[in-house]
Amino acid sequence: MSATIIDGKKVAKDITEALRHEVEALKAKGVVPGLAVVLVGENPASKKYVSSKEKMCESLGIKSMGNKIPEDSTQEELMKLINDLNNDPKVHGILVQLPLPKHLNEKEVMHAISPDKDVDGFGPDSLGRLVLDEPGFLPCTPHGCMKLLEAYGVDPKGKHAVVVGRSVIVGKPIALLLLRQHATVTICHSRTPDLKETCLRADILCAAVGKAEMIKGDWIKEGAAVIDIGINVKEDGKLTGDVEFEKAKERAGFITPVPGGVGPMTIAMLMYNTVEAAKATVK
Ligand code: GUN
Repeated sequence: MSATIIDGKKVAKDITEALRHEVEALKAKGVVPGLAVVLVGENPASKKYVSSKEKMCESLGIKSMGNKIPEDSTQEELMKLINDLNNDPKVHGILVQLPLPKHLNEKEVMHAISPDKDVDGFGPDSLGRLVLDEPGFLPCTPHGCMKLLEAYGVDPKGKHAVVVGRSVIVGKPIALLLLRQHATVTICHSRTPDLKETCLRADILCAAVGKAEMIKGDWIKEGAAVIDIGINVKEDGKLTGDVEFEKAKERAGFITPVPGGVGPMTIAMLMYNTVEAAKATVK
């Protein structure tokens, strides 16, 4: 049997359409949600992501404030910019597109963003709140993955969820969100010896390794929900995920395609966080 293909574009659109009304309501109260997007240098993938974020802001009536600074900007210049954005009342959310050029200290930048404006959810306050199960900004991609499961009626409660990848921005937070929804969670990574066997026990499999089609079709448990967070560019220029999609879809119950699965959700949840940040400023 072939899997239900999870339509991330559709779920993302439902979320952004609901936000459109919230933006209008905020504007009626005199608040225009504002997102400051900081892009350092000319990384082509980053430029593309930033442009998609800006377009989505524009379409929802969120004010996007682009801050494009040169590749050779110093740490001091970047920290000064963050400080200015922290103090600007028109800015409700700050997003610093990663990765930064090698000479810059990403951690220091993430620590400097005001917790009230940390719409990426990568700062220590946001991530600490996630661990503590306290309200706060959730990282957009993991939050989007949870929304996809919810939209397709996949309840993590009592299920075995396997997360492949332990990054701070995807693997770790998604594991915590699955745990919050009462899944039993296994986190795998490059040193996990029995990766195939562990994946085969996953009712929910989240792949976030960044290696094209590393998770093979015969690693998928029959009927599993497969969430593919990888975006890899193949030699022919086409995008592919971390999962061998064509074979995996013959075994999975649900599966996200790449593109059109998790990707659109990341932007939708960024818009959601920005609107939440703006709402929090209304007296
Ligand atoms: N680079 C790749 N994904 C992301 C993201 O979600 N946010 C930021 N800031 N940078 C990224």
